[in-house]
Amino acid sequence: MSREPPRIPTASRLTEPRGPEKIQSEVRLLEGSSSGFRTWERTMAITIVTICGSVRPGNFTGKALALVHDELTKRPEVEVLPLILGTFQLPLPGQSADPEPLERFRAAVKSATGVVLATPEYHGSFSGALKIAIENLGFPSVLSGKPVALLGVAAGEIGAIKSLEHLRSVCAHVGSIVLPGLVSVPRVQELFDAEGRCGDARMEKRIRSVATMLVDYIKGAVCSRIELEAMIRGKVGAAAEPPV
Ligand SMILES: Cc1cc2nc3c(=O)[nH]c(=O)nc-3n(C[C@H](O)[C@H](O)[C@H](O)COP(=O)(O)O)c2cc1C
Repeated sequence: MSREPPRIPTASRLTEPRGPEKIQSEVRLLEGSSSGFRTWERTMAITIVTICGSVRPGNFTGKALALVHDELTKRPEVEVLPLILGTFQLPLPGQSADPEPLERFRAAVKSATGVVLATPEYHGSFSGALKIAIENLGFPSVLSGKPVALLGVAAGEIGAIKSLEHLRSVCAHVGSIVLPGLVSVPRVQELFDAEGRCGDARMEKRIRSVATMLVDYIKGAVCSRIELEAMIRGKVGAAAEPPV
């Protein structure tokens, strides 16, 4: 395992000067505020949207999720798009909101190939912030039909079992394809140092497996379907003929 701390996407990083090399970065943050870094294009074959369910400054859910980002960015075919929840001003259901950031939030999830949802365990369930995010993904939801991988972190030693079960149930309800192998991280406050390095190699491997599991599933079940459709429509290879 690398001893380099993983890059943790934070809103403050958005204020750094951005040279061309940063624009080429495989991790592109999408935040709601119009002053932030908003540009992203679908240049990669697979786009993974991630949502961190904690908006607490210095939260541990984000530290665990940073390992997943790190693992995803090892794959050149994958673009990672972390959606920074606290910046989208997502409304409570039925309340009015600025439609522009909300639309961008929804569109990002809609066009994603797969989604990682990371949640803290709050009061025996997943966070309210994440539930509000899901409420804002439409009814019917743009999560419908999406492969979704789940990661949960908790201060307690039984881990984030309850939050993951609840989150799995809600995601299944809105029609997501929830991948098996939910990853629950217990005693998370003992796991990471201030720079976000994980002190437990075994647990780090499990957290990183969220990325591997999702990309492997997409390659096996989604990419082959897309390629097959393209072949049938004659879009792959000049000689391809649509079947009669
Ligand atoms: C409102 C609230 C409720 C919490 N409830 C639980 C809980 O039920 N079980 C648990 O193990 N930890 C609980 N915790 C601790 C979190 O799991 C802990 O803060 C952990 O670091 C994940 O949250 P974070 O990503 O915001 O850091 C709670 C924390 C807060 C702020």
